[in-house]
Amino acid sequence: MFEFEEAKRLSSLPTYVFDTTDKLKSEERAKGKDLIDLSMASPDFPTPKVVVEAMKKALDEPVNHRYPSFDGLPEFRQAVEKWCHEQYNIHLDHNREILPLIGSKEGIVHLTFALIDPGDTTLVPLPAYPAHFRATMLAGGTSIVMPTSAKTGYLPDFSTIDDAIADKAKLMFLSYPTNPTGAVASREFFEEAVAFCKKHNIILVHDFAYAEIYFDGKKPMSIMEIPGAKDIAIEFHTLSKTFSMAGWRIGFVVGNHQLIQTLRKMKTNLDYGLFSATQRAGIAAMNMEKGYFDEVRKEYQARRDAVISGLQSLGWKIEKPKASMYVWVEVPRGFTSMNFFLELLRKAGVVVSPGFGFGDLGEGYIRIALIDSVKRIEEAISRMEKAGIRYKNGN
Ligand SMILES: Cc1ncc(COP(=O)(O)O)c(C=O)c1O
Repeated sequence: MFEFEEAKRLSSLPTYVFDTTDKLKSEERAKGKDLIDLSMASPDFPTPKVVVEAMKKALDEPVNHRYPSFDGLPEFRQAVEKWCHEQYNIHLDHNREILPLIGSKEGIVHLTFALIDPGDTTLVPLPAYPAHFRATMLAGGTSIVMPTSAKTGYLPDFSTIDDAIADKAKLMFLSYPTNPTGAVASREFFEEAVAFCKKHNIILVHDFAYAEIYFDGKKPMSIMEIPGAKDIAIEFHTLSKTFSMAGWRIGFVVGNHQLIQTLRKMKTNLDYGLFSATQRAGIAAMNMEKGYFDEVRKEYQARRDAVISGLQSLGWKIEKPKASMYVWVEVPRGFTSMNFFLELLRKAGVVVSPGFGFGDLGEGYIRIALIDSVKRIEEAISRMEKAGIRYKNGN
């Protein structure tokens, strides 16, 4: 057998949660089982037709077949500038404060590589989207956990962070609405975060992947709405969730010019920018009638409500998340998150994500993604009921 050693930065990382669960899922599918898959956050809505049409048109134009520029099309950056102004009332300079990305995960990980050396530390609230702590591990740095829980609304308490730790930290990750908990942040929290990072000279990275997926009319805010945020912060956006374009790989980053330049410098060594035809499709997406989102949100909200009422009927005491595509669910007593994942998979044919993949503080929970219809969600609940899967916390 061919023998070689992976770099320590890679071999020391635990397997990515979705890699583990994908294999187990495939094993069950190979047995012919009909699985209700509520695991990965890949929206099941089709990409809007106008976006697909714009892509088709762009594909017919040979100019789009060349290497794109590192900065992206000026028209794409202008569309982002307009979008961010209309959606979040923030003012950006499309020549200095916006960069297209091949999906936001790419940008988050590459920014971390561009800033973190072995020995450096980052601050990350847990539970979190895996890239927020795994990128630091890959870069050879150390993530310092800012613990969060249901009790604190999954917001970290900055007053508990030791001054010496804060002074040493180079970067802080935040992401509200949060994957996996669906938590949202208030203006006061963001103000505090910006002030804290300024005081301790920390770069603030806000991942705003779920900007448009919110419920009950309560729109989450961009961190760029906080005066002075742009001095120290950068914010990642994606079209994956907002426009159901996960497979297209398109996102963008906005904010501090120097940080954008640092990420751009990193990316000049790694890629050739975002396919121009995809950027044209992205422009069409951002110029779409805004009524589209109301429909999307209505459907996600109906799914959220179906999950919550279904779980409540099975004994869970659980509150409705205010945003995101997820419901974060405590596992019954006696289960680990992985055991409960397996119980649901093998006894009910329902696939979720085990909480441990979102960091140590995700243990004891599973994440349900709202990526199938209300009918299928109701079927998932009924399968759980038939399999005798209920929430029991007593002995
Ligand atoms: C919080 C968060 N950030 C980023 C991403 C990745 O998005 P993209 O498709 O833009 O890489 C995800 C995907 O699930 C996510 O949950």
